[in-house]
Amino acid sequence: MVIGKPFLTVEQIQGKVKELANIISGDYESKKFLAVGILKGAFMFFSDLVRHIRVPMHVDFLISSSYVKSQSNGKVNLHADIRSTVEGRHVLLIDDIVDTGLSLNYLREMLLARNPASLKICTLLDKKSRRKVDVPIDYVGFEIPDHFVVGYGLDFEDRYRNLPYISVFKQKTERTVK
Ligand code: IMP
Ligand code: MG
Repeated sequence: MVIGKPFLTVEQIQGKVKELANIISGDYESKKFLAVGILKGAFMFFSDLVRHIRVPMHVDFLISSSYVKSQSNGKVNLHADIRSTVEGRHVLLIDDIVDTGLSLNYLREMLLARNPASLKICTLLDKKSRRKVDVPIDYVGFEIPDHFVVGYGLDFEDRYRNLPYISVFKQKTERTVK
């Protein structure tokens, strides 16, 4: 299953993941560090990123969704919450892509209410031009234009998440791979 040519190749993604992991390792040294992955989209980025982080950490996950097909409906559903204690920990929320910012803004406020020692956000992709709410992003892999992208965890109707690279999704291409 290949859809189009990669927009970001395996090599570009893996290089960036290592770069981010190095910076994060420095920033979280000797801190009570909790990395929270936002599923499903961040599952691949999260697992690649944490294997390059060289400081002790806890990992946890939450499941949220905000998307109906490829259009954000502005509503955030929390399907499963983390079980870890947030209070007193340095929390890093890890997501695949920030688009309008509505989902991360909601999740950030939810976690801030639990009194973390700090809360930062890391995303692989940032579609900055689409932002509707101003949510602070601390670590960004790639700022990208307003394309709908799939692969490396990102989906269209829950498909293409397993691609090891990222492609721009085109409705026309979709029919040929069904
Ligand atoms: P936001 O709340 O509008 O920032 O939406 C963020 C979520 O929408 C991401 O975590 C993705 O799950 C999804 N999303 C946004 N843009 C894309 C895209 O280009 N491809 C796949 N999913 C996307
Ligand atoms: Mg997501």
